[in-house]
Amino acid sequence: MCDKKEKYYITTAIAYTSKKPHIGNTYEAIFTDAIARYKRMQGYDVFFMTGTDEHGQKIQELAEKAKISPKQYVDNIAGEIKSIWDLVGTSYDKFIRTTDNYHEETVKKIFKKLYEQGDIYKGFYEGWYCTPCESFFTETQLVDNKCPDCGRDVIYSKEEAYFLKLSKYQDRLLKYIEENPDFVRPESRKKEIINNFIKPGLQDLCVSRSSFTWGIPVDFDPKHVTYVWIDALSNYITGLGYTFDNKGKNYLKYWPADLHVIGKDILRFHMIYWPIMLMALGEPLPKHIYAHGWMLFGQDKMSKSRGNVIYADDLVKLFGVDATRFYSLSEMPFAQDGSITYESFISRYNSELANTLGNLVNRTVAMCNKYFEGIVINKNIVQDVDKQLIALAKTSVENYNKKMEELKVQEAIHEIWELVRRSNKYIDETMPWVLAKDETKQDRLNTVLYNLIETIRIIAVMLAPIMPATSENIFKQINSDEKTLDSINTFGKYASNTKVQKASPLFERIDEVKKLEEIEKSKEVETVEKEQEKTNLISIDELDKVKLNVGKILEARRVEGTNKLYCLTIDLGTEKRTIVSGLVPYYTEEELINKKVIVVTNLKPAKLRGIDSNGMLLAAGDGDIVKLITVDGDVELGAKVH
Ligand code: MSP
Repeated sequence: MCDKKEKYYITTAIAYTSKKPHIGNTYEAIFTDAIARYKRMQGYDVFFMTGTDEHGQKIQELAEKAKISPKQYVDNIAGEIKSIWDLVGTSYDKFIRTTDNYHEETVKKIFKKLYEQGDIYKGFYEGWYCTPCESFFTETQLVDNKCPDCGRDVIYSKEEAYFLKLSKYQDRLLKYIEENPDFVRPESRKKEIINNFIKPGLQDLCVSRSSFTWGIPVDFDPKHVTYVWIDALSNYITGLGYTFDNKGKNYLKYWPADLHVIGKDILRFHMIYWPIMLMALGEPLPKHIYAHGWMLFGQDKMSKSRGNVIYADDLVKLFGVDATRFYSLSEMPFAQDGSITYESFISRYNSELANTLGNLVNRTVAMCNKYFEGIVINKNIVQDVDKQLIALAKTSVENYNKKMEELKVQEAIHEIWELVRRSNKYIDETMPWVLAKDETKQDRLNTVLYNLIETIRIIAVMLAPIMPATSENIFKQINSDEKTLDSINTFGKYASNTKVQKASPLFERIDEVKKLEEIEKSKEVETVEKEQEKTNLISIDELDKVKLNVGKILEARRVEGTNKLYCLTIDLGTEKRTIVSGLVPYYTEEELINKKVIVVTNLKPAKLRGIDSNGMLLAAGDGDIVKLITVDGDVELGAKVH
């Protein structure tokens, strides 16, 4: 346990706002949340920060494709990310967005300071660029002429850019890593970065781009924008209120970070660039970085094109929040990748949540109600089997604490379930239903049930960071407020003579066949939606929104001062309309008169060269040949086109 005032600053990576985050990204938020909750239980003054990384070429392109501004685009996705983090119960203290004004302003200052002190210099970047990964590669780094990270096409580009001098800090960085052996965990990933990137010699890092605009402008050279990593990494200090002029209360209190939680793919950036940036700024380095593994779908990387992406909100709909937290945390080992499948989710849900944990709590609370009207008293009629249970509870708590401390959440969960299973076995061994039938065994029965309820309380405390709502639910059922980590170091803190509440199941068993069918169905709906998206199909209702009518051109006159525009008068039978149209290069006035054309009649009016244009004519072709769509034969003017 720590001194109450000791601080603990913990962060996740900030997620890209290019697309909705999948369960892999969400796992990171859940994992970090579990550690943050645990640290709070230990008594630390925790500051937990997470957020979104919102600049870059890819986002600019996606926004262009979606025909909205980049800010609108990132507002949408950042909102989605935040709501998913909220849905899974992430207890962050701050959600930072790199488009937040204070962040942008500080990043500008950081860039300028590093430039002025000679750590950033101007040069040229020439190389192969992967837009989705936002990374440059040399020829030799490419794999089959494709991006070595994602396998997609790369483009050759040369542009003026600013660079951060990394080589200058290489020795200091290595020394820091050597002197702080647990700076980066796991050890295997740390070694990989030292051997593959630091020891061969650090290449200077490109920190600005001028070929796109969606980024934080370089203060003294605004045709450049800050290229992602200086922008993104700075979030860890700007979010605490760090600026040059004023470091801010939270920065002074919480920096350096006690733990950055990130995925293995971005360890290089956190283990090399971030410490070097901080050294250059003269600020202390983070204490620990933990690079977790990859969450795979079965054995494969999740990707939209493979159609195997799983989203946390879908899992929550299918299984609930706590089951999603439990499953993702317990499927990810400390130093390796984890794997997720619907089948294994259902199987673990049924066996570990519904059967093992759910039954233990349900049976025990029900027996307390059945045999003693809910009031259990510890009569201390002790047998060997009790001692075994109590001894295991003690080791479980010790091991659990050790594992949580080492960030081995999967193994900590395993420790909890050892105790859950042992408790179920204890019920089978002590057979309360047999004791209940014997008048002389009532004190023994009380003791057995007390031991069970107390073990359940210990389990609920350990579950709190993993499954907060389930933990609360158990506390409610056993009617206890003894929730502290301290309280589980001693067996027996549950108040004897407490009345438990009515038993209610924690997890309903899932019918595997039905659930898999439900999942299949939702995938079918998704596929249909995707297909429609791909081909840009519209529904009949959408088509119906466009009103098309037959009209006749009565007059055509050139609009003064333009080379293209005619001002047309169109007869729609019941009304006449003025429409300005760019037909000069394609038709003479005479050719236009009396043509029966198709008019979009419910288009919002527009002012063109001072003339109110009220509709549009349908035409085909572009470039040199444009032809009006005309109507063949005798059709009434104003007739609806369908
Ligand atoms: N924006 C950068 C991080 C900048 S931090 C200063 C980024 N964003 S991301 O959205 O691509 O990823 C967010 C986090 O999710 C990263 O830590 C990344 O490693 C992690 N993961 C991405 N895919 C993952 C899995 N399939 N499984 C587990 N974690 C995954 O990187």
